[in-house]
Amino acid sequence: SPPLPIYTQEEVAKHHSSAKGVWVTYKGGVYDITEFVSLHPGGDKILLAAGGALEPFWALYAVHNQEHVLEMLSQYKVGEL
Ligand code: HEM
Repeated sequence: SPPLPIYTQEEVAKHHSSAKGVWVTYKGGVYDITEFVSLHPGGDKILLAAGGALEPFWALYAVHNQEHVLEMLSQYKVGEL
């Protein structure tokens, strides 16, 4: 498969709301999670990370430190930083 596009942090930061789409970064990957927001078991808290990095939040909510969560996230990958 062809390489995914490279995005800047600035471009990611523009996608910070349901209206503009919700993008997040994780370990150098860029994810468009717009469609996942309403499915999130942790509810609207997910929007705290909108337009930025997941790491600080996932460090606080260790429930994400599981293989099945990373598999879920991987489905939404749209690019690299
Ligand atoms: C729970 C995914 C971002 C807060 C969960 C669970 C999944 C998930 C799958 C259930 C885990 C389990 O019980 O096995 C995701 C994904 C995220 C994301 C894919 C980003 C793309 C966030 C963020 C926060 C957050 C940024 C906080 C700011 C929570 C909380 C729970 C939770 C508090 C526990 C809900 C409960 O069991 O009552 N998340 N999450 N999540 N998430 Fe997230």
